[in-house]
Amino acid sequence: MKALLCTRYGSPDDLEFAELAEPAAGSGEVVVKIHAAALNFFDTLIIAGKYQFKPAPPFSPAAEFAGTVESLGAGVSSFKVGDRVVGYMTYGAARERVAINVDKLAKVPDGLDFDRAAGICITYGTTFHALKDRAALKPGESLAVLGAAGGVGLAAIELGKIMGAQVIACASSDEKLAFARKHGADEVINYANDDLKEALRRVTNGRGADVIYDPVGGNYSEPALRSIAWKGRFLVVGFAAGEIPKLPLNLVLLKGCDVLGVFWGSFIERDPEGHRANTRQLLDWCAQARLSSHVHAVYPLAEAPAALKAIAARKVMGKVLLKP
Ligand SMILES: NC(=O)c1ccc[n+]([C@@H]2O[C@H](COP(=O)([O-])OP(=O)(O)OC[C@H]3O[C@@H](n4cnc5c(N)ncnc54)[C@H](OP(=O)(O)O)[C@@H]3O)[C@@H](O)[C@H]2O)c1
Repeated sequence: MKALLCTRYGSPDDLEFAELAEPAAGSGEVVVKIHAAALNFFDTLIIAGKYQFKPAPPFSPAAEFAGTVESLGAGVSSFKVGDRVVGYMTYGAARERVAINVDKLAKVPDGLDFDRAAGICITYGTTFHALKDRAALKPGESLAVLGAAGGVGLAAIELGKIMGAQVIACASSDEKLAFARKHGADEVINYANDDLKEALRRVTNGRGADVIYDPVGGNYSEPALRSIAWKGRFLVVGFAAGEIPKLPLNLVLLKGCDVLGVFWGSFIERDPEGHRANTRQLLDWCAQARLSSHVHAVYPLAEAPAALKAIAARKVMGKVLLKP
């Protein structure tokens, strides 16, 4: 089978293509033929050896996928050959087939195509965990989303609306903000040319945002925290800007607010039942077209370097897919 391989840590152009032996399903596993693998920002880091997980090369990037079950290992009764599934792994999906434990899979409902399904597990899973399990977002609250046109950012807009929040999308271009409005944002802020702290106060009539969803970090986190509402919740999701900000704790005291870490990979290990319930809910909403899971672009496996460069260059809105 064809596979995209990181044979040494480096840039997207250092990735290689290889023919590998077909995988076989071990006990408790199935083999899935991958129809679409979704990339995340962290794929740009994992191939450079700069992510929190540093797999030993050679390995394939891409951590979430949609496909069809092709064969069953010993002891598997919950899936059958031909089932349409989504799944996640820390890395390894940029190839034609994977052997994977059934615990990491969920069935795709009718009416949801492979492309839209491929980016549900991690992208929407992380955001639902953040807004529901960590921030306990309530109807009528305001939710400010940084990097709002990116993968998890778009998920935060859409899930925020489903959960009844007033959503304030913050992003770096008017094109991204128009995209955010189209997907449900009530207010928009261009943080490339507006003062984020002042703008957040302005659109919340001076109250500040009840919940701030921050997958960007860098220079945006502190101005956002400075405009959080009394008893607000600040969700630390990621650092796409590259720099991990240090927040002054006096702000946390003065706002009576909570700073909440979001670590989806650890949550799914510690609370597998909660994770499965979240995934079922997300797939249902997606099948009902209440979540767009918007696909920005689909690249053949051989053009994966261009896909990863587009993510690193902040050019992507929603998800980027690879087609093996
Ligand atoms: N905590 C968890 O469990 C978890 C799970 C999944 C992802 N994450 C993290 O969430 C973050 C976003 O992931 P994603 O897959 O949604 O990424 P993405 O689709 O690439 O979106 C990231 C957004 O960050 C903004 N950004 C600002 N500076 C940037 C820079 N220098 N390079 C790239 N983007 C920049 C961009 O929006 P603007 O141009 O509008 O600023 C971009 O749309 C990543 O740090 C990722 O590791 C965390």
